[in-house]
Amino acid sequence: MSTPSAIESVLVENRVFEPSEATVKAARISGMDAYNALCAEAANDFEGFWARLARENVVWNKPFTKVLDESNAPFYTWFEDGELNASYNCLDKHMGTPNEGKVAVIFESDGGEVTKTTYKELLAKVSQFANALTARGIQKGDRVLIYMPMTLEGVIAMQACARIGATHSVVFGGFSAKALQERIIDAGAVAVVTANFQMRGGKELPLKSIVDEGLGLGGCESIKTVLVFERTPTQCNMVAGRDITFTEALAGQSTTCAPVMVGAEHPLFILFTSGSTGKPKGVQHATGGFVLWSKLTMDWTFDLRADDVFWCTADIGWITGHAYVGYGPLAAGATQIIFEGVPTYPNAGRFWQMIERHKCSIFYTAPTAIRSLIKSAESDPKVHPDRSDLSSLRILGSVGEPINPEAWMWYYKNVGKEKCPIVDTFWQTETGGHMITPLPGATPLVPGSCTLPLPGIMAAIVDEAGHDVPNGSGGMLVIKRPWPSMIRTIWNDPARFKSSYFPAEMGGTYYLAGDGAVRSADRGYFRITGRIDDVLNVSGHRMGTMEIESALVAKTDLVAEAAVVGRPDDLTGEAICAFVVLKRGVPSGDEAKQIAKELRDWVAKEIGPIAKPKDIRFGENLPKTRSGKIMRRLLRSLAKGETITQDTSTLENPAILSQLGQTY
Ligand code: PRX
Repeated sequence: MSTPSAIESVLVENRVFEPSEATVKAARISGMDAYNALCAEAANDFEGFWARLARENVVWNKPFTKVLDESNAPFYTWFEDGELNASYNCLDKHMGTPNEGKVAVIFESDGGEVTKTTYKELLAKVSQFANALTARGIQKGDRVLIYMPMTLEGVIAMQACARIGATHSVVFGGFSAKALQERIIDAGAVAVVTANFQMRGGKELPLKSIVDEGLGLGGCESIKTVLVFERTPTQCNMVAGRDITFTEALAGQSTTCAPVMVGAEHPLFILFTSGSTGKPKGVQHATGGFVLWSKLTMDWTFDLRADDVFWCTADIGWITGHAYVGYGPLAAGATQIIFEGVPTYPNAGRFWQMIERHKCSIFYTAPTAIRSLIKSAESDPKVHPDRSDLSSLRILGSVGEPINPEAWMWYYKNVGKEKCPIVDTFWQTETGGHMITPLPGATPLVPGSCTLPLPGIMAAIVDEAGHDVPNGSGGMLVIKRPWPSMIRTIWNDPARFKSSYFPAEMGGTYYLAGDGAVRSADRGYFRITGRIDDVLNVSGHRMGTMEIESALVAKTDLVAEAAVVGRPDDLTGEAICAFVVLKRGVPSGDEAKQIAKELRDWVAKEIGPIAKPKDIRFGENLPKTRSGKIMRRLLRSLAKGETITQDTSTLENPAILSQLGQTY
């Protein structure tokens, strides 16, 4: 199941799974003719196509008259003079419809308690929280940092910000105090919404103390309020005047709150993600386009029906948890499952048991989760999906990293029982929603391929100069025309936005995804071959090699130099491999093990446990060319354990190759 063999098996993949006639007949986009008709509509009248969809799928307080403005490309705007509120589109709009009393969220806690919240109840909770934010002086345009467990309250916080026009920035609960501090400073946040603790796998893990530590690192004077959700009864430190519990903040607040209407381009949220430099980028998304696409892709990609029970397992700290937990399912009027815990607690059958318990019909998860559950199911029949009744399922989804055909087939057979289409959705933090994906009632499926772009998404594969490459040849994935849910800018760094995503060599208007891809010769299906920049994808989590390198060299008492590369990993897709030069020379044996542990703990503290290098190797130097450039290609070969066949004649010190062969 390793990545190279996965790529090889994709290259020879010739299994095709056609949707059943019944599925096609019942689908919203029914058959390839319907798909092609939508694509033709977009090609013939691009703005008219998007205007129609925006009118049909978004409730506008003030209708837009302009569709797309390209005059300041690549700073595109969509529906600019329209006004709306995202929370209105997710909640209020359902009032007085059959959705009012429908369950919006089935929440299952780590420990297994289940609570159900209707749309009407959720509107009241969001309104009350919005009033609590307003009472603390938070208003339209302010930034609010959300550092929460995967609970209903996290979604309420997001929706409440949107309701008052505040821009949220959710930071995954696994990031460190330092990472939090950097994001608070960059966003200029005025408040933090957090919890005393989070529950994961039966353990109570601190959140508030990490916030305290982050704020204590300095530079966070903009923070005036810390709202603390009492997730568990355990007390946490509270700073008088700054910190307030949810109970106190909500006390006496009304459960109605008029939504603040904002312009379509108003920043709905900033979400930090890794790029190819040491500093994470604050990806800024606009209200109108994001609401449109998160709602519409629920309908298109998941072919959502009124009686579906939708479950996206992503955390709200990632883009998937924004589009397909925080907004899309609510805007589409779905019943969704929100799960606080981890797939392996109390046992690795948890996902399957939950699908049975809540009669989940659409299940959307990451390949890493599937691969780890395959491993568990193969070693312990008690947690095999066969032990649960999965007959409620009708559509499966995959997101975040390439899914290898072996994992795809297992998912298809053992979870979907060969009757559920798998939508392998390719997209990114920057794209705001699905870009390339099969449609369950139309697209014939090929394992390991995300198949074809959604209508209106002008995806192509090009060479360095921006020219299309023929099918069968690899190249760079670009989107040639803007789309409504695209990134608007990098917060505080428009120049980086322009240079990272819209290369001048390609004309300055093609969006460069940063992934390599190839289209199949027969069907023109897209297959993503992986990142072409210094970004790694570990368990579907994006990590910048430079970020990890900066963290390592910040350990100044130990580290002189460090280089980080990815290597294929059976379980996590890619694994982080760090090559380190210590100030004290090359360690070995127990000392090397001890230092490797120290460095991993350090990286966990600087960034978060997800950034810990799996492999650490020590050398007295790094392989460099005579001009002093680190030979990363060589490091990648070493990390994979390959015999070095590359030309090493330019290498200053060939002897270090053997030192760097030892992993700790
Ligand atoms: O490399 C691609 C991979 O994940 C990257 C985007 O990561 P992030 O912004 O964190 O968003 C992940 C969730 C949308 C992409 O550049 N990726 C995402 N989905 C797929 C994928 N690679 C292959 N197949 C996918 N379906």
